[in-house]
Amino acid sequence: VRHLLGIKDLTREDIELIFETADTFKEVINRPIKKVPSLRDITIANVFFENSTRTRLSFELAEKRLSADVVNFSSSGSSVKKGETLLDTVNNILAMKVDMIVMRHSSPGAPHYLSKHIKANVVNAGDGTHEHPTQALLDAFSIREKLGSLEGKKIAIIGDILHSRVALSNIFCLQKLGAEVMVCGPITLIPKYIQELGVKVEYDVRKALQWCDVANVLRIQLERQQIKYFPSLREYSLYYGIDKALLDSLNKEIILMHPGPINRGVELTSDAADSQHSIILQQVENGVSVRMAVLFLLAQMNQ
Ligand code: CP
Repeated sequence: VRHLLGIKDLTREDIELIFETADTFKEVINRPIKKVPSLRDITIANVFFENSTRTRLSFELAEKRLSADVVNFSSSGSSVKKGETLLDTVNNILAMKVDMIVMRHSSPGAPHYLSKHIKANVVNAGDGTHEHPTQALLDAFSIREKLGSLEGKKIAIIGDILHSRVALSNIFCLQKLGAEVMVCGPITLIPKYIQELGVKVEYDVRKALQWCDVANVLRIQLERQQIKYFPSLREYSLYYGIDKALLDSLNKEIILMHPGPINRGVELTSDAADSQHSIILQQVENGVSVRMAVLFLLAQMNQ
């Protein structure tokens, strides 16, 4: 496998190898000297056609911790605005002797298309509503860190499933690792094909929280909604918003996750997001070592 395009293409063994490699890198980056020379002489371009805070910075830090040379491209302010195509843009970047492309794009399948037309490794950093493989890997890695294993664990993914690339990658990843997966949200934000993936579907957020060991809460992705979906943000927070009182009323251990960015007061109140249940910032921390593992393993395959 020369690319990381989606979790769908990975085996359980691939995922476990990524986690074991990430364990080592997590230890390394917690030392006073955080850098290793593993990707010295490798050049990586982070090519972002869509906004990002966590993924872009996390990849850049992962690359720098591995001693790679790094260039960052963002479509806003670039010649894409003058009509240059995706392939021309990337081929021009590659002409400057770049070895790997990390790409975020709003079109599902854009990194797959790219991988068929270029020689460099392609890492999907999120393609539209399709997949966000490194997010799912860091999410599962964070659950494994808290619970020891994913086998038999119950994970509820709550929110806008229809427009979420995080949901699909999480479903593939969690199921491959032996977890039971439930999706929960308003009926208008749950795609019809979801049951074919072998997940449970629940429309009542309290029942979903009662069922699960881990709640992975997603935001409403207004930027992907071509039509106005029911419910509105106000209605969503009324029926699906999670606050600390709701979590505490379950009278059980529950882990609260969110891929970010959080819309505070919509899907999560601040007292829930910042509560003892939350591992949201641990997810972000783990993103760096997981991405180091992905880049390191891909580079090894080129040798
Ligand atoms: N989780 C995530 O993909 O966040 P960003 O959009 O900020 O990268």
